[in-house]
Amino acid sequence: MPRRGVLAVGTLLVLLQLAFVPSPLAGFLLDPCLEVTPNTTFRCTGLNSSGVPDGVPNTTQNLDLSFSNLKSLGSNYFASVPELELLDLSRCHLHTIEDNSFVDLRRLSTLILTANSLQHLGKAAFHGLTSLKKLVLVETNRTSLSELPIGHLHTLEELNLGHNSITSLKLPEYFANMTSLRHLSFFSNNITSISRGDLDALREGNRLNLTLVLSLNRIKSIEPGAFAGIHLGELALRSAFESTMMQTSLQGLAGLQVRRLIVGDFSDRKRVQDFERGSLHGLCRVRMEEFVLICFRNFEDNSGTLFNCVGNVSTIRLVGVGLEKISQVPVWSQVKQLECKKCSFEDVPAVNLSIFKELRVLRITKNKKLKNFKQKFQGLSNLEVIDLSENSLTFSGCCSSRFQNCSNLKHLNLSFNSNIGLTGDFTNVQNLLYLDLQHTTIFGPGLYPVFPSLQRLIYLDISHTKTEVKSQCMFCGLNSLQVLKMAGNSFEDNKLANNFKNLTHLHTLDISSCKLEHVDQSTFDALSELKELNISNNKLLTFSPGVYQPLQALRVLDFSRNQLTVLLGSARETLPNSLVLLDISRNLFDCSCVHLDFLEWIKEKQELLQNKEQMLCHTPSYVANVSLVSFDLSSCHVSVGKIASSVVVLLCVVVFLFLIYKYYFQLYYSVVLLSGCKHYAERGDTYDAFVIHSSKDQEWVTKELVEPLEGGKPPFHLCLYYRDFLPGVPIVTNIIQEGFLSSRNVIAVISTDFLESKWCSFEFDIAQSWQLVEGKTGIIMIVLEDVNKALLRQRLGLSRYLRRNTYLEWKDKEISKHIFWRQLTGVLLEGKKWNHEEVKLM
Ligand SMILES: *[C@@H]1O[C@H](CO)[C@@H](O)[C@H](O)[C@H]1NC(C)=O
Ligand SMILES: *[C@@H]1O[C@H](CO)[C@@H](O)[C@H](O)[C@H]1NC(C)=O
Ligand SMILES: *[C@@H]1O[C@H](CO)[C@@H](O)[C@H](O)[C@H]1NC(C)=O
Ligand SMILES: *[C@@H]1O[C@H](CO)[C@@H](O)[C@H](O)[C@H]1NC(C)=O
Ligand SMILES: *[C@@H]1O[C@H](CO)[C@@H](O)[C@H](O)[C@H]1NC(C)=O
Ligand SMILES: *[C@@H]1O[C@H](CO)[C@@H](O)[C@H](O)[C@H]1NC(C)=O
Ligand SMILES: *[C@@H]1O[C@H](CO)[C@@H](O)[C@H](O)[C@H]1NC(C)=O
Ligand SMILES: *[C@@H]1O[C@H](CO)[C@@H](O)[C@H](O)[C@H]1NC(C)=O
Ligand SMILES: *[C@@H]1O[C@H](CO)[C@@H](O)[C@H](O)[C@H]1NC(C)=O
Ligand SMILES: *[C@@H]1O[C@H](CO)[C@@H](O)[C@H](O)[C@H]1NC(C)=O
Ligand SMILES: *[C@@H]1O[C@H](CO)[C@@H](O)[C@H](O)[C@H]1NC(C)=O
Ligand SMILES: *[C@@H]1O[C@H](CO)[C@@H](O)[C@H](O)[C@H]1NC(C)=O
Repeated sequence: MPRRGVLAVGTLLVLLQLAFVPSPLAGFLLDPCLEVTPNTTFRCTGLNSSGVPDGVPNTTQNLDLSFSNLKSLGSNYFASVPELELLDLSRCHLHTIEDNSFVDLRRLSTLILTANSLQHLGKAAFHGLTSLKKLVLVETNRTSLSELPIGHLHTLEELNLGHNSITSLKLPEYFANMTSLRHLSFFSNNITSISRGDLDALREGNRLNLTLVLSLNRIKSIEPGAFAGIHLGELALRSAFESTMMQTSLQGLAGLQVRRLIVGDFSDRKRVQDFERGSLHGLCRVRMEEFVLICFRNFEDNSGTLFNCVGNVSTIRLVGVGLEKISQVPVWSQVKQLECKKCSFEDVPAVNLSIFKELRVLRITKNKKLKNFKQKFQGLSNLEVIDLSENSLTFSGCCSSRFQNCSNLKHLNLSFNSNIGLTGDFTNVQNLLYLDLQHTTIFGPGLYPVFPSLQRLIYLDISHTKTEVKSQCMFCGLNSLQVLKMAGNSFEDNKLANNFKNLTHLHTLDISSCKLEHVDQSTFDALSELKELNISNNKLLTFSPGVYQPLQALRVLDFSRNQLTVLLGSARETLPNSLVLLDISRNLFDCSCVHLDFLEWIKEKQELLQNKEQMLCHTPSYVANVSLVSFDLSSCHVSVGKIASSVVVLLCVVVFLFLIYKYYFQLYYSVVLLSGCKHYAERGDTYDAFVIHSSKDQEWVTKELVEPLEGGKPPFHLCLYYRDFLPGVPIVTNIIQEGFLSSRNVIAVISTDFLESKWCSFEFDIAQSWQLVEGKTGIIMIVLEDVNKALLRQRLGLSRYLRRNTYLEWKDKEISKHIFWRQLTGVLLEGKKWNHEEVKLM
């Protein structure tokens, strides 16, 4: 079958290419080593070549070769990197380490050989490692300690033999020489029994600091005396025993002296059976300072003997044990610290706990079933700290009545519970320094002063307690208070009034997330020592200089997440010199160029400002979400020019409009004048004269001028504005079209009223300029008797002397009238064209 063979070979070649081509490519194209810190730290993981890569310089101190395909190490393998302090050879497929492999690494302090199934380990494999402190042999297929060639590593501090198959704890004699050993771990091995003599090597020297980890083994028995005379820092025995073997095995610990003993399970690896009467009996002959019992369920009613053998311990921690009650506490108990974390109490077992006369610190936390606090602590005169946080406590009448003769209580932590009612009575605990009620709904504070007896309190946390501050005296009496945290509450009318009046020693105040809209002028007057103020996440619109003026010691101010548009110059000047951190991020900044000085200040104060990337413009909309820090100030300078020029343009327009308004008639006249020139020829001499006069002289005009002239012989035809002007046509058009253009002459009836009337003056001016432009119409000036001559001369000016003009004075005497009429008709007759009817009439 040749064809099939060829096919198979082809497929194999492709597969080989797929498998191997990337590796050489990677090897050639990419530097296989990552320089984590220059010259000293290199990471060269996943290599497929033996030896230290060429790119690693001899200055290297930390070298990570994990996941490489090294297979075996030969002598002087690391000669090129003699400065190494840390070497990681995890999962390097090592099966052989020959003698003197690490001989050049005199400075090496950490050697990690995790997850290499070592089959051959030379007797001198670790020679030369004169500084080694930490040796990790986790998951290296070790079955016994005796063949481990580490006897000369006197400097060793930590030896980790976890996840191997070591069956015996028989420590070779050389452990006696490892006086620096602090941590020896047999985590998850196969140790089944511990015999007398196994730990003899630890008997010599002072081992008070050694931690011995025997967790996750399968101990069936510990021979009595095996631990006698041994001193340890810590012994960990979690899931260390074959089930049901714990009680008897613990007996074998007799004579041990240990600082901390940890007994129990892992929550996911249940081995130990239910707690039974006498389970811990073996511990009666162990001397320890701290006892930790962990992940021990199903206590039920069997807790009676729990403290029998650990009563002399000074610290007891019960973690994740199903303890439902405290019973049978030995009266001679020496316990000073007791912690029950994740236990199963339903009521605070205050009465039975009060038997621990020496108790200084009591913590009952994370106990979800714990709802009631009915019993009273009594006579715990040494008690300083009570931490009942993170339970589900619901009770009222806090706090004095619960603590009788506990006069030393300084810390009380009731945070993260359900509902607690405060009476305001703290007389039994008036030495309290720290009171924490955060995230617990509390009743009482806000309505009336509840803390007046806590004169020594320095720390009060009532954050997120659903408190609404209605009383201005809520904090009265807290004269020593230094830290007040009350974020996430509210104040009456969303307003800070004079709520902090006597808190003169306050140095930290947190009133964030309090829905605040307004801060009264005198609010902070007493807070001259305040160093930190957090007023973020409120609804404040302004930063009023007067309000913050008294805070002259302030170092940190958090004003973020409010609705501030700008920090005015006066406010910026108020900021004290001591200020080192200022957060005004996430406000609604107005980046108009009106606030250019503020924007410039932002640029100057980069060091002071926090969360700069969150300081964004809110208005005007065209710069919304632009960062204040990167705001382009030059755009503002340009706008100043723009504003200036537009102001100038606006002014010009206003002046122009004003001029148009003022000289409307003149302008209109000019327009008509220009257009009128064209039509001049078309207009006939409809009238002999156009009469301009003041309306007050109308009677004179009608009687003395119109009647004689129009009724006389020859009859003249006069143009009178009140009679001949066309209705519905602008007056100026009428003056020009009907008056000047259609008349051969202009008669101006000049009286005192004429001279005072602006309108008449205007008409007269038009007549004069019309005469100049057209050079046609003559002006006949009829001056009535009572006219002020000086004014007349000034108004008429030169016109009266012009040749073409006629100057007539009207006098109410027959002789004068006669001359007047002769002169007037003479002028009017000049150039008059006669029509037939008129000729007939003549
Ligand atoms: C690293 O070594 C090179 C040459 O050995 C030297 O020039 C350089 O300054 C060193 N860098 C640092 C950060 O020590
Ligand atoms: C590693 O290199 C060897 C030859 O040195 C080769 O036989 C092996 O297949 C390579 N392995 C990988 C995963 O590239
Ligand atoms: C490291 O190598 C340089 C040359 O590359 C040499 O001069 C220097 O002495 C070496 N340092 C050590 C500690 O070996
Ligand atoms: C562990 O070492 C033994 C020899 O001591 C060997 O037979 C066995 O295969 C090794 N196990 C592994 C997983 O390499
Ligand atoms: C532990 O030792 C027992 C014998 O003492 C053996 O049967 C068992 O396989 C060993 N377990 C491991 C994980 O080596
Ligand atoms: C312990 O060290 C001393 C000298 O440092 C040596 O004489 C002795 O043999 C060592 N003991 C063991 C068990 O290695
Ligand atoms: C135990 O360790 C601490 C530091 O972790 C050290 O200060 C102390 O001296 C040590 N005690 C003994 C007895 O070695
Ligand atoms: C605890 O100490 C007292 C004396 O202080 C002693 O009588 C008692 O036997 C001790 N109990 C244990 C378990 O060590
Ligand atoms: C207090 O301890 C006694 C035994 O000393 C026990 O009978 C009682 O139930 C305990 N009380 C509580 C509330 O746990
Ligand atoms: C509390 O102390 C007073 C005296 O200070 C004493 O008379 C009273 O008996 C004590 N009560 C308790 C329960 O210890
Ligand atoms: C009170 O307990 C809570 C939760 O354990 C903790 O975060 C807080 O710091 C404690 N308060 C004090 C004043 O120690
Ligand atoms: C304010 O404090 C002073 C002394 O610091 C004290 O005398 C006064 O009674 C206090 N006033 C209130 C209302 O607590």
